[in-house]
Amino acid sequence: MCGIVGYLGHRRALPVLLNGLKRLEYRGYDSAGIAVPTEDGLYIAKRAGTVAQLEALLAGVELPATSGIGHTRWATHGEPLDRNAHPHTDASGRIAIVHNGIIENYSTLKAKLREDGYTFRSDTDTEVLAVFIGALYEQYGDLELAVRTALSEVQGTFGIVILCADQPDTLIAARRGSPIVIGIGDGEYIVASDATAIVEYTRSVFYLTDDEMAIITREGCQTKTIDDIPTSVQLLELEFDLERIEKGGFPHFMLKEIYEQPQTFLDACRGRLLPHEGNVKLGGLRSVEPQLRRARRLILTGCGTSWHAALVGEYWIEELARLPVEVEYASEFRYRNPVLFPEDIVIAISQSGETADTLAAVREAKLRGATVLGIVNVVGSSIARETHAGVYIHAGPEIGVASTKAFTSQLAVLMLLALYLGRMRHLSAAQAQDIAAEIRRLPEKIQYILDHAEHIRQIARQYAQARNFLYLGRGVNFPIALEGALKLKEIAYIHAEGYPAAEMKHGPIALIDENMPVVVIAPRDELYEKVLSNIEEIRARHGQIIAIANEGDTELPHVANHIITIPHTLPLLTPVLTVIPLQLLAYFIAVERGLNVDMPRNLAKSVTVE
Ligand code: M6R
Repeated sequence: MCGIVGYLGHRRALPVLLNGLKRLEYRGYDSAGIAVPTEDGLYIAKRAGTVAQLEALLAGVELPATSGIGHTRWATHGEPLDRNAHPHTDASGRIAIVHNGIIENYSTLKAKLREDGYTFRSDTDTEVLAVFIGALYEQYGDLELAVRTALSEVQGTFGIVILCADQPDTLIAARRGSPIVIGIGDGEYIVASDATAIVEYTRSVFYLTDDEMAIITREGCQTKTIDDIPTSVQLLELEFDLERIEKGGFPHFMLKEIYEQPQTFLDACRGRLLPHEGNVKLGGLRSVEPQLRRARRLILTGCGTSWHAALVGEYWIEELARLPVEVEYASEFRYRNPVLFPEDIVIAISQSGETADTLAAVREAKLRGATVLGIVNVVGSSIARETHAGVYIHAGPEIGVASTKAFTSQLAVLMLLALYLGRMRHLSAAQAQDIAAEIRRLPEKIQYILDHAEHIRQIARQYAQARNFLYLGRGVNFPIALEGALKLKEIAYIHAEGYPAAEMKHGPIALIDENMPVVVIAPRDELYEKVLSNIEEIRARHGQIIAIANEGDTELPHVANHIITIPHTLPLLTPVLTVIPLQLLAYFIAVERGLNVDMPRNLAKSVTVE
């Protein structure tokens, strides 16, 4: 959840570290810090607050060091205070460490170290690891051995980078469960928790695997397991460029990413959709085609927005492939003793590919003998690597904490998967051709909604001070109601609930009065009339209705307070369009409330802890 950066090369380290921290700030933003070597030991600056505040603290500080480490934090152990910010040091102050993850046995280790006379200045598990490594270093006089010994004794997860004043030209990085990617430039190395901090220096990277470490010096980079067995690495070329991780004139990453959706949706389908043949080509699934043909059931799993995408996928796959689908929260699946049959296919959906619960669900499903696939955005991420096969969504880096473009790209891939599985079964080529032809038109329809965003901004102004929102949808748009509510909660801090529209009368209707805005997703489909009845029930209780309706709808303008129109499409495909106004509504409400849209409180982009 935190951002880690390390540098060893020919540039001054401090600006590289601060720049990297700014790029990584979306991963955690409650405190930040850096450590660089000087002739008198380590220079450490850290504080609660943003990277900009750290930068202000360092204004005018000139340090010649060409190596160093930095961190931007999302608190797990210990409040966001100066003393809990990373880097943490050992007792001597000569070893500094930045850490992402959780050391689960930290209290046992801490108690032992206390017995040996060590004291602690912070409330963090990371400081315990630093002190532990320092104690072993004192004993062995060998930093690498100290690190390896400590890491083999800790339980939990870590992505770490270590700097020692005695070896200023060495960085030691290691991972278990928290990503570490190492960029190899021209005479320089950049270590980070994700590639966004690396891409402006080099595109050549490799990821550490679990229980692997890298010893980086000016002479080269050596990798080995923490049991001291040499390993080899697989170099990758980063697919995105700097432009993809800059705001490009938009006030927020979230808005930029919302506006990227016509393109990212297209990218997810590119080369995969064969409209003339009424078929789909998913190269990443070729190796598991026999298993997909044999499959009797799919289990889709993920968290948050990815779980909502899975719910939409359930409707699509059941409808087009007539294959039973279950959708499970990854956090529940991993601990639930799930019943899995050998012919089951488990599909993990994750933007980051690093979500701890989803990764654990992948491991659990593999352990139980299922074929496990991934629908992932980040190339080379843990879920992408640990699944048997999968499909990348190719949405490019998503920086806004609220997931938007990754969601519509996940939908694109799930629709392709539904067609692919359908064509393996009884979906006719003609049916698939019709759907494929309409999928190709979706980017321009998304664009149409974006071009009319100003109307949504006006509506947002009127409801920005509401305390609660209800989102209703039916059928394939029920998950979109959940997604709309999640977007509003996470960035506008307004309590919101998503419900299947017909369920409203079983309880939530009690909440409706003139102060309750109700967003109703009401495209012209087979359930339209039913949704109209639900709207009447809201009207009778004076709720404020914001309806998402098809262009040209003549009935809704008479019953809703506000109409947001979307173009017509096939009923099954409407989620790709209905979600766009809900993303914009949440965004404009959050902006109206003066909130930091890209860095909502208490959240971080990638949840790599349980
Ligand atoms: O990276 P993942 O897709 O696995 O992340 C899952 C959730 O943490 C994520 O979707 C989260 O709910 C977002 N903040 C939603 O906008």
